[in-house]
Amino acid sequence: MTTEELNSPQGYKTPVGILGVGHFVPEEIVTNADLTKFVDTSDEWIVSRTGIRARRRAAPHQATSDLAVEAGRRALQAAGTRAEDLDLIIVATMTPDCPMPATSTMVQHQLGATRAGGFDLNIACSGFVYALITGAQFVASGTFRRVLVIGADCMTRLMNWKDRSTCVLFGDGAGAVVLGPVEPGYGIVGIHAGVNGAGGPSLTVNAGGSRMPSWSEGVDSSDYYLQMEGPEVFRFAVSVMGEAAIKALENGGFTPDQVSLFIPHQANARIIEASRKRLNLPHERVFSNVEHYGNTSCGSVPLALSEALEQGRIQDGDLIALVGFGGGLSWASAAIRWGGKKES
Ligand code: ACO
Repeated sequence: MTTEELNSPQGYKTPVGILGVGHFVPEEIVTNADLTKFVDTSDEWIVSRTGIRARRRAAPHQATSDLAVEAGRRALQAAGTRAEDLDLIIVATMTPDCPMPATSTMVQHQLGATRAGGFDLNIACSGFVYALITGAQFVASGTFRRVLVIGADCMTRLMNWKDRSTCVLFGDGAGAVVLGPVEPGYGIVGIHAGVNGAGGPSLTVNAGGSRMPSWSEGVDSSDYYLQMEGPEVFRFAVSVMGEAAIKALENGGFTPDQVSLFIPHQANARIIEASRKRLNLPHERVFSNVEHYGNTSCGSVPLALSEALEQGRIQDGDLIALVGFGGGLSWASAAIRWGGKKES
């Protein structure tokens, strides 16, 4: 099988679409001005380099599963699906509550999804789109009818608040979708995914795994923080984001000019603007909420999708394109014809 065939969903036995979307963010808003009280930065620098004005921070008692459960609950409500009817829960996260048990098991329990299986998926900020196209395979094959896909992260837990080059960029949040069969011609019509492991060292959290366990010699707190070669990741993101969208669209037989709304990973307004230009789309056909939330990693794309729907930016029949990118280095994309919901 060629890569092209692997990336094409044309072989779907059952068309798969998004039946409902929801999101949840913690209450506390941390503005750029708040950050200037303890780190050498300015609102002007952050806004001009990233477009970010504020981010949310989880309360001490909140962990990723808490955000995921609430986003999942809202997606189920929007879809009109009962938790008991779920077949599978996939949680994309790089900040699980703990290494074991998986966050998806906590979500299953909290939601009361008594029949559902579950697993976590970690491919950094690309996680949600990877989880979306993974979950879709189960519906497409006819194996499952209802799959809950959640992207959730508490990125502030990985921040070194003394490192101004990273701590201003990230926030906490979650988004979720319910996948199920849709009418022919609707749903996920094109997908694409890739990694470039050679770029891995440019975006890391070094400790806490099997290479550098907590008790190993020389480990200090900085090894638990997210570390990033910002300009390198920036160049990667600019080169990959538009291309990934184009490949997913091409796999479905579409071109960028047919896209009604482009929903990219919300990491940096300059990266979003570069991909908008690459796709030659007008501003009104690109969605961004990075200003309010910063980079919420796996939460980013579904949180943007959820807000786009709330704002009436997506109508039945619209072609939308989702793209995630992040550590790995990694990326994934999906083209979706919105609507076509069947009565369950
Ligand atoms: N406030 C003030 N000055 C700062 C700050 C700050 N918060 N951060 C860095 N600077 C300074 C630097 O020290 C540097 O100063 P110097 O020239 O005196 O050395 C100067 O600003 C320029 O620094 P750069 O890093 O070159 O700034 P750049 O324009 O590249 O912007 C940024 C940095 C915003 C991080 C950009 O590179 C970026 O967005 N990169 C991509 C990040 C990203 O998308 N990450 C996705 C992660 S996805 C995942 O999987 C987790």
